[in-house]
Amino acid sequence: MNYSLFFQVLSVLWMQCFIVCSAVSVRNLNTDQFELLQFKDRIADPQNVLAISWNASNSVCKWAGVSCGGIHERVVALNLTNMNLTGTIPPHLGNLSFLHSLDLSSNHFYGHLPKQLGQLHRLRLAQFSYNGLNGEIPTSIFNISSLKIISFAYNNLSGNLPDDLCQHLPNLEALHLKTNELSGNIPSSIGECINLQILSLSVNKFRGIIPTSIWNSTMLEKLFLYDNNLEGKLPPMTNVPKLDELILWGNKLSGNIPTSISNASMLKHVDIGSNFFSGLIPNTLGNLTHLQRLLIGDCNLTTEWSFLSSLANCRNFTLLEVSENPLKGVLPTYIGNLSASLQYFLAHDCELEGNIPMEIGNFNNMLLLSLANNELSGSIPTSIGGLRNLQGLELSSNKLGGPISESICGLERLDTLSLWSNQLHGPIPTCLGDMTSLRYLHLGSNKLSSAIPSTLLNLQDILELDLSSNYLNNSQPLDVGHLRSLVKLNLSRNLLAGDISSTIGSLLTLLSLDLSNNKLHGHIPESFGGLISLGLLDLSNNNLSGIIPKSLEKLSSLKYFNVSFNRLEGEIPTNGCFPNFSSTSFMSNYALCGPPRLLLPLCKNSIHKHSKMLLHALRYGLPVIGVVIVLLIVFTIMYTKRQRRSTTLPIKDDLLALRTWRRISHAQLSQATDGFEEINLLGSGSFGYVYRGRLSDGMDVAIKVFNLQIEGAFRSFDTECEAMRNIVHRNLVKVITCCSNTDFKALVLDFMSNGSLEKWLHSERFSLDILQRVNIMIDVATALEHLHSGHPSPVIHCDLKPSNILLDDDMVAHVGDFGIAKLLGEGDVMKQTMTLATIGYMAPEFGSTGIVSIKCDVYSYGIVLIETFTKKKPIDEMFTDEMTMRNWVERSMRKGMIDIADAGLLKREDEYFVVKANCISSIMDLALSCSTESPEERKDMKGVVVELKKIKQRFLNSMEHV
Ligand SMILES: *[C@@H]1O[C@H](CO)[C@@H](O)[C@H](O)[C@H]1NC(C)=O
Ligand SMILES: *[C@@H]1O[C@H](CO)[C@@H](O)[C@H](O)[C@H]1NC(C)=O
Ligand SMILES: *[C@@H]1O[C@H](CO)[C@@H](O)[C@H](O)[C@H]1NC(C)=O
Ligand SMILES: *[C@@H]1O[C@H](CO)[C@@H](O)[C@H](O)[C@H]1NC(C)=O
Repeated sequence: MNYSLFFQVLSVLWMQCFIVCSAVSVRNLNTDQFELLQFKDRIADPQNVLAISWNASNSVCKWAGVSCGGIHERVVALNLTNMNLTGTIPPHLGNLSFLHSLDLSSNHFYGHLPKQLGQLHRLRLAQFSYNGLNGEIPTSIFNISSLKIISFAYNNLSGNLPDDLCQHLPNLEALHLKTNELSGNIPSSIGECINLQILSLSVNKFRGIIPTSIWNSTMLEKLFLYDNNLEGKLPPMTNVPKLDELILWGNKLSGNIPTSISNASMLKHVDIGSNFFSGLIPNTLGNLTHLQRLLIGDCNLTTEWSFLSSLANCRNFTLLEVSENPLKGVLPTYIGNLSASLQYFLAHDCELEGNIPMEIGNFNNMLLLSLANNELSGSIPTSIGGLRNLQGLELSSNKLGGPISESICGLERLDTLSLWSNQLHGPIPTCLGDMTSLRYLHLGSNKLSSAIPSTLLNLQDILELDLSSNYLNNSQPLDVGHLRSLVKLNLSRNLLAGDISSTIGSLLTLLSLDLSNNKLHGHIPESFGGLISLGLLDLSNNNLSGIIPKSLEKLSSLKYFNVSFNRLEGEIPTNGCFPNFSSTSFMSNYALCGPPRLLLPLCKNSIHKHSKMLLHALRYGLPVIGVVIVLLIVFTIMYTKRQRRSTTLPIKDDLLALRTWRRISHAQLSQATDGFEEINLLGSGSFGYVYRGRLSDGMDVAIKVFNLQIEGAFRSFDTECEAMRNIVHRNLVKVITCCSNTDFKALVLDFMSNGSLEKWLHSERFSLDILQRVNIMIDVATALEHLHSGHPSPVIHCDLKPSNILLDDDMVAHVGDFGIAKLLGEGDVMKQTMTLATIGYMAPEFGSTGIVSIKCDVYSYGIVLIETFTKKKPIDEMFTDEMTMRNWVERSMRKGMIDIADAGLLKREDEYFVVKANCISSIMDLALSCSTESPEERKDMKGVVVELKKIKQRFLNSMEHV
């Protein structure tokens, strides 16, 4: 053998090997670098971490987040957690073939996981949690048999898990899939993952049963399946020696809690509530000596309480929640044997009865005690003062009686004291005012009777104070201005009196203020405008007077506002949140005014006109009270008679159609008027408003909405309304139906397209000729005649005036508002009378002697007749008490018609001047005879109809002869 040749060959071989081997090695690390650069180029990197660090001038092994290792120094770990990276995950990662740890968690990756990741056959850890990934998890990933830890928690992944999952993942230790959209069953192979320690499938849509094999994973420590749709029974817990957390709440699991739970002897934390578990709570729970937290609330569990004594074995027990189970019965005294480490005892809604055992005071580590919504009786044990560290005491909605024990004041850390809705009586202990840690104090709906302790109103840090529905009073004006952190104050339904102190305006954080149903008086403080956070303000049912301060317009967050049932007056503020409030916010006050939608009188400049009318009314005065009483008697007799008749006599055919009484709701009327939009407003008066509306069947109607401020009015609204619709005549406005709720009353009437006579007489844009006016007044006379004599007892209109005379398509006149007097029923007679009779058209005896009769209507008719042909209103400024409109006509008649008649009707140069003047003159004679001072001398309506028809005929004849 030639040694030199041998060495030559060897050296060549070695050289070749060196070249080949190092070339392989270099190429492979280059491959890793190449793939990572590809990765970098395909994602967004807003913090430029990769842009700076990942460049070819550096060794790839020194790049941020990259670790190399192994004999060949390849990339083995990539950790890019929390770098705000964005984009879909590039498939190139699948070529990093030496990778065993990949952590891309807490970034903004989205889209599908690339299936190429399945090529990473050395991968042990795949960490993709906290991204926005969606779609299904590629099966190829679940086939990487080296995987120990998989985490895709907190993404939007969907689809099922393969049923044979564990057959391909023999090494799996932790599977974290919490908070995705995953569905389907828990894989039945799960027991084959014999190294599984953590299974977290919570907050998904998994359904079906929990496979029995789950307990074959003997290494299992944590089982988190909460908030899914799992059902069926919890499998018997056979072989789970290491399980320490069992969290299954929020599923549909049923059956018993297995007594075998005691086999899981390491359990510390059991939270399986909000399921359908039923039966007895197992007393083997006490064998779980490490148990610290047991939550089994919101199921259907019962108990004989033995479980409670067994739990005394759990030395480190801190939390027991059994709320919302029908446990029933009395809390046993041995509750006092539970571990002194107990911090939370939650048993609200458990149908518990009897006394609260004194032993409850044993737990000086207790933080929260909740026994609310039970039937507990007796008094609150004084031992409660032993709960030295207590922060929350919830005993609301029980039947606890007696006074509030002063021992509560010893709970120096108490944050929440809720004794709401019990039968506690006696005073509020003044020492509560020393509990500076209190943030929530709810003592409402009890029988507490005392003055509100002034100390209580000094709790500077208290957030909520609810003393509502008690018998509390105040010795001084209500001053809560020192409660400077207050968010919610409810003192409603007490006996608070006096003024509201203006210091309240300094409570900048107050969200809700309810002082309703007390006896507060005085004004609403201007300073309320400072309550800038306020969302709810209820001052209803007090005796508050004065105006609603305009400063309240500043409360831009106010959603609920109520000042109903007070004695407020004046204009309702119009800006800020006020346009959002409806009429229910302002009901039943003294004299508020505002926009039509609030169903209140308009404010405008009508104020002084109003006061002038009031003076008039007062002058004719108080006898009116008598009038209304007489009116009511007349009507009562009349309607009683009618109703009797209508039940005994056969119904006339022409009335039959009108008997179909359609029911209508406020909602339908609101819809018909586009929410009582101002654009649909036809008119207004002291009684309320008239809207135009279209019902769902297309019928046009007029809707008369009554102002409900007249206290006590409308008691007989429904009956009278029904009676009204039976009064039918061609020249009366037809009442179609009524709508009557406690806070809304309306009449639905035939819509008269041509509006009122008032409009035709006094608006520039309209005019009527002499014949039209005669015809209209014949219609009106006919209508009144029908009211007066078409019934067994006369119906007296009481308020005839041009605005109540309405014209249809054919200019036929219809008298409206008949019977309104009766609608109003009993009540504040003065206001009603103001509502009813209109000054100027009202017969003198109506105001002065209290006599009411059909002759009052005749008088009003006479006045309307004068107005129709003179275009002068009886309340025109030219008329006074000495020179009424009637006197003026009487005196001027002698000088001829030209001075009296409407200039639009009669002109000297008119071809028919004489004929027209004669006609008008006859009409004036008739009008004067209708409106004589003495009722006896007035014509009756029958005579008026006859006379007016004659005048018309004479006029027509004369016209032909001219
Ligand atoms: C990735 O790095 C972070 C710190 O930046 C660390 O908390 C985390 O455990 C690392 N991930 C892995 C899988 O090692
Ligand atoms: C990620 O971006 C957000 C703004 O989009 C920023 O607030 C946050 O600090 C960034 N995270 C890191 C780790 O820099
Ligand atoms: C669970 O283990 C038992 C025995 O320990 C075995 O008989 C059973 O087949 C296993 N079940 C599954 C699904 O692995
Ligand atoms: C539970 O503990 C009791 C003693 O407190 C014991 O008698 C019983 O056998 C135990 N049960 C189980 C299943 O361990």
